[in-house]
Amino acid sequence: MNTDSKKIKISPIKKGTVIDHIRKGQALKVVKILGIMEQDIDSVVSIAMNVDSSSGRKDIVKVEGRELIHEELDKISLISPEVTVNIIDDYKVRDKHRVKPPKMVKGIVRCKNTTCITNQKEPVEPEFEVTQGKPVTIKCLYCEREMRGEEISENLR
Ligand SMILES: Nc1ncnc2c1ncn2[C@@H]1O[C@H](COP(=O)(O)OP(=O)(O)OP(=O)(O)O)[C@@H](O)[C@H]1O
Ligand SMILES: [Mg+2]
Ligand SMILES: [Zn+2]
Repeated sequence: MNTDSKKIKISPIKKGTVIDHIRKGQALKVVKILGIMEQDIDSVVSIAMNVDSSSGRKDIVKVEGRELIHEELDKISLISPEVTVNIIDDYKVRDKHRVKPPKMVKGIVRCKNTTCITNQKEPVEPEFEVTQGKPVTIKCLYCEREMRGEEISENLR
């Protein structure tokens, strides 16, 4: 067997998005944010987990025929702020940008504090201030509960 035949080949995307430099272990969270499992999609989706990169290991998600909306980018920035989003057009990287955690996080994360007013039968949208970038830390405007890491990724709405 020659070494070439051992390589896994991922089909290139003609048009779509490559979400690169995802923090290792977070690829399935990104897939969930994109709602890929729920939809009856006919586009190609490739997920690479724990692959080598210049600074250790990373995950990658490649989605054909799809660009990301603002809310999806904000969610991804909270769970993996190192991500780069590459827009692929005609098989080439047309645009590349980093995600950036927003200053305020409104409606996309649930507060972990079960007694918080945002978790009662009140029409109050959960809202947080991003108080720290490394690691991303958010603070509830209503109960001041701070959340980071898994607490955020497990409470995405
Ligand atoms: N047509 C394509 N289909 C699928 N994936 C692609 C396509 N073109 C580029 N990519 C992927 O998009 C990512 C960014 O591509 P690029 O050529 O900019 O790599 P790079 O120079 O390593 O970028 P970076 O410096 O951001 O790591 C890589 O993971 C690459 O494999
Ligand atoms: Mg690279
Ligand atoms: Zn709260």
